[in-house]
Amino acid sequence: MPKAWIHPTKYAENIAHLHDVMTRYGTSVMAVTKVFRADQKLIDVINQSQIEYIADSRIDNLKTIKTDKPKVLLRMPAMTEVEETVRYADISLNSGFATIKALDEAAKALKRTHRIILMFDLGDLREGIYYQHDYMPVIADILKLEHIKLEGIGTNLTCFGGVIPTPETLEKLLVIKAVIETAHPVHINLVSGGNSSSFKLVSEGRQPKGVNNLRIGEALILGRETAYGTPIPGMHDDVITLEAEIIECQDKPSMPEGELGMDAFGNQVHFTDQGIMRRAILAVGRQDVACEDLIPPEGVEVLGCSSDHLIVRLHHQDLKTGDTITFKLTYGGILRVMTSPYVRKCYRD
Ligand SMILES: Cc1ncc(COP(=O)(O)O)c(C=O)c1O
Repeated sequence: MPKAWIHPTKYAENIAHLHDVMTRYGTSVMAVTKVFRADQKLIDVINQSQIEYIADSRIDNLKTIKTDKPKVLLRMPAMTEVEETVRYADISLNSGFATIKALDEAAKALKRTHRIILMFDLGDLREGIYYQHDYMPVIADILKLEHIKLEGIGTNLTCFGGVIPTPETLEKLLVIKAVIETAHPVHINLVSGGNSSSFKLVSEGRQPKGVNNLRIGEALILGRETAYGTPIPGMHDDVITLEAEIIECQDKPSMPEGELGMDAFGNQVHFTDQGIMRRAILAVGRQDVACEDLIPPEGVEVLGCSSDHLIVRLHHQDLKTGDTITFKLTYGGILRVMTSPYVRKCYRD
C-alpha cells in the first residue's frame, strides 16, 4: 500500500514561520485544513500554535476537528447544510441573503448566534457580492437578523480569475468596510483579504492597513506563495510526501510496438524513441494520485500512470523490485493522497 508520510514537526515549523510574518503585519491567520483532510495530528499542531482560527471547506471535516479555536466554514453553506453549519462552524463565509436568513433560522432553533464573513467579489469572479453592485440593502437586511453577527467582510483572489492581490484591489474592501460602518452603528472586526497569494504582499509590508486576516492553506503545507508560485525561504515543501513500492523493474524499449490506439483513459498516446531504458512499475495509480502531481527525486522520471500502476524511468541502476521511491507532491497531489482510502497515512518527525 502506498504511504503518505506526514511530518508534523515540519508543519509546526512552517506555521511558526508564517505566523511570525503575519503577526508582524497585524494579520490573523485561518489555517486551512481541507488539503490534508483535517488530519487530527496536524490539527493538533495548529492547536499548539498561535494560529487564531481553523478553516475548512467541508462540514464533514469541521465535524471531526477537535480544537478550542474558532472553526470557520470556507465554502458558502448549501441551503441543505445550514443547520450543520451552525452546529459545527462558529463562522461561515457567505454571499447571499437567502442562505444567511436560513442560517439565522437555524441559529434561532439551536439558540445560538452564528457569525458570518460577507464575501465580496473584487474581480476574481468566484464567490462574493460583486463590489460594484449596491450591497447596502443586503447589509441592512443582515443587520436586522437576531441570530447572525456580521463578524467581517472578505474576498477571495487568485482562485478562478487569477487576480493577484494588490494594494489597489484590497483598498476596495476597505472602502466597503468604511461605507458600512458609516451607514450603520456596527464595527466590522475582520477584513479577510485572501489566501496564500497574499503572502508576498504582506511580507513586503504592502498589504493595506485595515486588512487584518488571511485564510492560508497552500503556503503552510507547501511553503510557497501562490501569486507567483515562489518558495518561501525558511519553509518546508515536504510536509507530506508519498512513498510507493516497485513491483516490476526491467529494461524495456521506450517505444510501444504494434498498431497504436488509445491509452487506459482514452487519450491519444505519443512516444519518442530513446532506445532501451530501465523502467519500473510502482504500486500506485490515478486512484491515489495523478502522476502529473508527483515530483520525483533525482534520477527518476515519471513516464505515466494508469488507475493502479505508475511507470517511471530509472536513470540509475541501484533500485530493484521491493524498493520504494518517495515523491514530493503538488497541492493537488496532497489533496488526492490524503483523500484516497488506498493510501496509508503514516507520521514521521
Ligand atoms: C475561500 C477560501 N479561502 C482560502 C483558501 C485557501 O487558499 P490557499 O490554499 O491558496 O491558501 C481557500 C481554498 O482552500 C478558499 O476556498
